[in-house]
Amino acid sequence: MDGRQQKRPRGGGRVRNAVLWDALRTVLDRIAPEDGPRDVVDVGGGTGGFAVPLAELGHRVTVVDSNPDALAALERRAAESGVRVRSLQGDAIDLPDLLGPDAADLVLCHSVLEYVDDPAAAMTALTGTVRPGGSVSLLTAGQVAAALHRAIAGHFDDARRVLTGTSGRWGEGDRMPRRFTRETLSSLVRGAGLRVAELHGVRIFADLVPSGLADADADSAEALIALESVAAVHPVLRDLATQLHLVADKPVS
Ligand SMILES: C[S@@+](CC[C@H](N)C(=O)[O-])C[C@H]1O[C@@H](n2cnc3c(N)ncnc32)[C@H](O)[C@@H]1O
Repeated sequence: MDGRQQKRPRGGGRVRNAVLWDALRTVLDRIAPEDGPRDVVDVGGGTGGFAVPLAELGHRVTVVDSNPDALAALERRAAESGVRVRSLQGDAIDLPDLLGPDAADLVLCHSVLEYVDDPAAAMTALTGTVRPGGSVSLLTAGQVAAALHRAIAGHFDDARRVLTGTSGRWGEGDRMPRRFTRETLSSLVRGAGLRVAELHGVRIFADLVPSGLADADADSAEALIALESVAAVHPVLRDLATQLHLVADKPVS
C-alpha cells in the first residue's frame, strides 16, 4: 500500500487541494497501517473527484449520492480510469438502510453538509456507517472566509450578514444554503458521538491571491502549497479558510 499511498491526485487544482489530500493520506495511513485496501464510503461523492483517486489508490470505494446524473458521470470517470467504484443513489440520511451499520473504515462527506435538510440527522447517519476505530472526513464551506471574500469585493453589508446570521449566508442571492465555523462543525460532530481528531483550513491564501501569482511558475505553486500546509493548522489562520476540513474518529468502545 505504501507506494500507492504516495500517489498524488492527477489533474489541476493541486494547489487548492494539496492540504486536503495530505490530510486524507494521513488518515488512510492511520486506519490502514498495514497492507490492504480499506472500505471507503463517499457520501455525496458526486462525479468522483475524490472517489476515483481513492479507488486508484486501491481502496474499495462506494459513492452514495442523491443525483443520478452525477452518478452516471462518476461511472464514466471510473471506467476511463480503469477502476471500479460502486455507486448507489440515495440520500445521506438513508445510509443505514443502504449500507447497514459499520460498513466503512473511512466515510467522506465533502461539500455536502451545506446542502442536506438536517445536518445533525445526516451526521448521525454518517456515524452509524463508520466502524469503531474508523474516521469521518468532513469538508464544509467556511463562514468566516465568506465574510472576508464579500468584504474584499466591497459587499460590506453581505459580509456583516454572513457573520451575524446563523446559517452564514449573505442574502437571498447566496447560492450556498449553509456555512460552518470551527465551533459549529465541531459541535455537530460531538453531538453525533464522534471525537474531533484534526481540523485543517483548506485554501486560506489560495483563494485570496490573484491566480496569476499562484500559478506564475512551478516554484510559486510549490511555495504556496508549503504556505498553505503551515497555515492549515495555524490556530488563527485555519479559521479563515474557504473550506474547513475536520477529521472525526469513532471511538472503539
Ligand atoms: C458540491 S457537490 C460535492 C461533490 C464531491 N463530494 C466533491 O467534494 O467534489 C455536492 C454533492 O452532494 C450531493 N448531495 C446533495 N445533497 C445530498 C443528500 N442529501 N444526500 C446525498 N447526496 C447529496 C449532490 O448531488 C452533489 O453530488
